[in-house]
Amino acid sequence: MLDKKFSLNKKFCLITGAAGLLGHEHAEAILEINGNLILTDIDSKKLKKMAKNIKNKFKKANILFFKMDVTKTKDIKKVFNKLKKNKIYVEILINNAAIDSKVKGKVVRNSNSFEKFSLNEWEKQISVGLTGSMLCSQIFGSAMSKRKKGVILNIASDLSVIAPDQRLYSSSKKNKNYKPVTYSVIKHGLIGLTKYLSTYWPETNIRCNSLSPGGIELNQSIKFKKKIAKLIPLNRMAHKSEYKSAIKFLCSDASSYMTGHNLVIDGGRSIW
Ligand SMILES: NC(=O)c1ccc[n+]([C@@H]2O[C@H](COP(=O)([O-])OP(=O)(O)OC[C@H]3O[C@@H](n4cnc5c(N)ncnc54)[C@H](O)[C@@H]3O)[C@@H](O)[C@H]2O)c1
Repeated sequence: MLDKKFSLNKKFCLITGAAGLLGHEHAEAILEINGNLILTDIDSKKLKKMAKNIKNKFKKANILFFKMDVTKTKDIKKVFNKLKKNKIYVEILINNAAIDSKVKGKVVRNSNSFEKFSLNEWEKQISVGLTGSMLCSQIFGSAMSKRKKGVILNIASDLSVIAPDQRLYSSSKKNKNYKPVTYSVIKHGLIGLTKYLSTYWPETNIRCNSLSPGGIELNQSIKFKKKIAKLIPLNRMAHKSEYKSAIKFLCSDASSYMTGHNLVIDGGRSIW
């Protein structure tokens, strides 16, 4: 039987960047513990498809979806006002949206070198991963503060606590690829945002934590998977569903005495 503390009792959870790989997993986790969902993403086509899929699987659930660009205050306020009009309050916010370059089978030559990293790319990525999380927390968190309760969860990464091992990303000495500087800065920054928010509304029951997942196994090259496995005590990348239990824990009363924390789930990579 499900521990009652894990039940969300129909609370509404808003997920940003919900149409991506992990967004789908977070959404399922919330529905599995009896939550209601507000799915948002900048990509309306992908979002619509994802929402349809999830509605088919969870027929009785209350699932809303909105196109929302997290870098635009106007967009976030529009969603906020639409919800308010219908007396829907976001009690759980998952800041998940990001612009992430995935490691694919074929890598792009000389991408993301620090020397050539453009200001434009820096600003674009920071505005989604970091500024976007701040703006959504400001708008939905302020409303939570009036109701004196809520949960904010920032999705960071194992690279919020360790530096990228750049040797992983290049396929040869000639073909250099890098994890971009923005990734480290955004993910470390999210931990700062988490700590800041966890103490900003004292005497309320607003909790703010981070989840720091390790890399998920996808269509990366065998060479990459072998190299990264050597850095991980559990000797493999994660399966995409392996963060669902943490989402359930962090978004529900099961973690009622936890705030300002960064839960790192990385197969042990960051302890080596
Ligand atoms: N996939 C991994 O291996 C992994 C590992 C550690 C951490 N993470 C983190 O988990 C989160 C989700 O990752 P993912 O793998 O699902 O990424 P993804 O690229 O599959 O999904 C990200 C989503 O964000 C959306 N998005 C981009 N810009 C946006 C904007 N301006 N406004 C709203 N939405 C926007 C995209 O449309 C996309 O649907 C990210 O924060 C990522 O850094 C992922």
